[in-house]
Amino acid sequence: MESKRARLDRFISAKTNINRKHVRLLLAQGLVEVDGQVARDIDQIIDEFSHICCEGKVLQANTASYVMLHKPVGVVSATIDDKHKTVIDLLSRADKQQLHIVGRLDLNTSGLLLLTNDGRWSKRLMSPEHKVAKLYRVTLKNPIDASYIKAFFDGMYFEFEDITTAPVKLEIVDSHTALVTLMEGRYHQIKRMFGRFRNPVIGLHRISVGTIVLDPQLALGQSRDLTAIEIAS
Ligand code: URA
Repeated sequence: MESKRARLDRFISAKTNINRKHVRLLLAQGLVEVDGQVARDIDQIIDEFSHICCEGKVLQANTASYVMLHKPVGVVSATIDDKHKTVIDLLSRADKQQLHIVGRLDLNTSGLLLLTNDGRWSKRLMSPEHKVAKLYRVTLKNPIDASYIKAFFDGMYFEFEDITTAPVKLEIVDSHTALVTLMEGRYHQIKRMFGRFRNPVIGLHRISVGTIVLDPQLALGQSRDLTAIEIAS
């Protein structure tokens, strides 16, 4: 999801139908405010969350939203779906239709799901260059052993996408449970990696994305706004 960045004079002109020459005059006269400050620079770049006033009229007043949801199994990571309840259906906030999902989870995966209306933030979090760690607790049908650790770290070739997975950290918790850290997010990646050992994943739960950890106070299906620290992280 792209964020809408624009030059201030172009934005005002498009919003008001005032020609750009006259917009420059308004700027010079100090009649334009961005985020509460008088703006005089025509080159100033604004985005969808800049609060913009021109001659005392509000032209734009969007607020950025950042939400964590404790996704239950059986709810689909989509905004609309014919068959299943969606993660959007679980929210009760007024702006829920403006939110998009930051890194989907499979239908039968539970745990931390992030939603936002800030395209730049979600892009940064999900882009492969930023290498944001996603931590999962995985429950397996059959016992696991130390050979999994090397195989996950060495990477696996996925023929369909013609890629080899980046090193994945796997820690064994007990005979049937592992903690897995992904730095990327390939389609059904964890299930496919355990599939190489013919070991079905019977439980998958996302604990954290980067430094944002699922709030233990949130029951299944509950959500809350991220804190300023979580957003900045
Ligand atoms: N890997 C999977 O297989 N499923 C998820 O939902 C996330 C990672």
